Amino acid sequence: MSAETLVQLLYLVSTALFILSLRWMSDPETARKGVFSGVGAMLLAVAGTLAGVAATGGTHYWWILGAFVLGSAIGYPLALVPLTAVPQRTALSHAFGGLAAGLVGTAKYFLYYGQRNAEALAPFIVVALVAEILLGFLTFTGSLLAAGKLQEVAWIPQRPVTYPFQNLVNLLLFAVALGLGVALVLNPLAVWGPLAFGLIVLLSLAFGVLLIIPIGGADMPTVISILNSYAGLSAVAMGFVLNNKLLITAGALDGSSGLILSIIMCKAMNRSFTNVLFGAFGQAQQKAEGGEEKVYKADTVESAAQVMEQASLVVIVPGYGMAVAQAQHKVRELYDLLKKRGVTVKFAIHPVAGRMPGHMNVLLAEAEIPYDDLVEMDEINGDMPQADVALIIGANDVVNPAARTDKTSPIYGMPIIDADRARTVYAIKRSKNPGFAGIDNELYFLDKTFMLFGDAKAVVGELARKLAGEGGH
Ligand code: TAP
Repeated sequence: MSAETLVQLLYLVSTALFILSLRWMSDPETARKGVFSGVGAMLLAVAGTLAGVAATGGTHYWWILGAFVLGSAIGYPLALVPLTAVPQRTALSHAFGGLAAGLVGTAKYFLYYGQRNAEALAPFIVVALVAEILLGFLTFTGSLLAAGKLQEVAWIPQRPVTYPFQNLVNLLLFAVALGLGVALVLNPLAVWGPLAFGLIVLLSLAFGVLLIIPIGGADMPTVISILNSYAGLSAVAMGFVLNNKLLITAGALDGSSGLILSIIMCKAMNRSFTNVLFGAFGQAQQKAEGGEEKVYKADTVESAAQVMEQASLVVIVPGYGMAVAQAQHKVRELYDLLKKRGVTVKFAIHPVAGRMPGHMNVLLAEAEIPYDDLVEMDEINGDMPQADVALIIGANDVVNPAARTDKTSPIYGMPIIDADRARTVYAIKRSKNPGFAGIDNELYFLDKTFMLFGDAKAVVGELARKLAGEGGH
């Protein structure tokens, strides 16, 4: 087998593994296998690249190995961040991906320019090069900013930053970058070529920032997913520049899965793409207008435990607060104790509960709660009127009835878990603060609702202790 055949074979197997990885990751049963096959695919891709270098008599594989070691050294601690920080961690990965594509594109242009290599800078390649650096560098700065917003870095404003004619300014900048790109395609070896190229790089870096500043923190997970798609497209363009089929397919998989994910998220929030990208959602901080303070009814853990043990169906609605409190293991204890007493317990999973897709599923799976008891929103809503208790653990927006009824609400139209249709509602949260959308939740003022104020892990733990018969119940 020739070295070239070996390289192509390695790339082919790697591509197949990438595809299988995505397939497997879409189901919790096979997700672990999906992760391993993704890692395997990446290893084969690196092996193929090394083999390719060796086959052409090159000696620069040390660079590749060096980058491999450096990347792993940075990637390993990044993989250890807590689950709640995964969205910003993912944004950082996209930033690195975008930067890599942008740098490779820049290096290639200057290499061919220095060689006065008109053939290597054929129009098709320069189109791909321009697309690569535009998308690569804007993904780099955009993702860094998104990660900073999600990490709530002090000097990065969380609120959308808007100014007059913002979209027009952005559009003009983009048009200038595109114009320079066209000029470069027509005349890649011109004296002003490197200058035009440099300007495109600068404009792309600025464009990444300008695209993200008008978007509020609540929309960041969706934006990250869109940036994922840009990074993928940038890799596709890089694949064309380097004539590397693996990069083209892997980039296309990355680009399309990012796009599909952002569409799923937009649907789950009843938002359109344009609304997420240009809507400056979360800008106006609503205050409950006029009039008297609404009153919350707090209850004791003890009486909540009593009501729950007499229930026949308890639906637990987990949200972001459960993730922050890392309450999933205590939730598992509560689940076991209720089941032991013959209570049917189901978990109502909202597609955008938490801060990333599948957030609740991952946490509950970590606590080994049987997957059959995690019920998707559409399915559980039919059962909500039969639920004796809806126990809300650190969720807010995803159970806010304003989404169904209040046309002026920013979350109007977002499908919700109908917790308000249960007979009794217990809600665990620490304070009277709103959820991510920054709006009040009528559910908490209903007659049937009782608040259990406190940290989710502590309160659920307390509930479990009462049910276990400890603490004097
Ligand atoms: P949120 O609306 O953010 O509400 C979380 C609640 O948890 C807060 O009201 C908070 O109240 C409480 N909380 C925080 N820490 C807690 C702790 N340690 N113990 C107990 N409670 C705690 O969460 P949600 O209902 O899951 O909704 C998710 C939101 O994120 C939606 O608006 C959704 O559109 C948005 N979003 C999600 C995604 C994805 S993909 N999941 C993507 C984009 C946007 P206190 O401060 O009073 O404790």
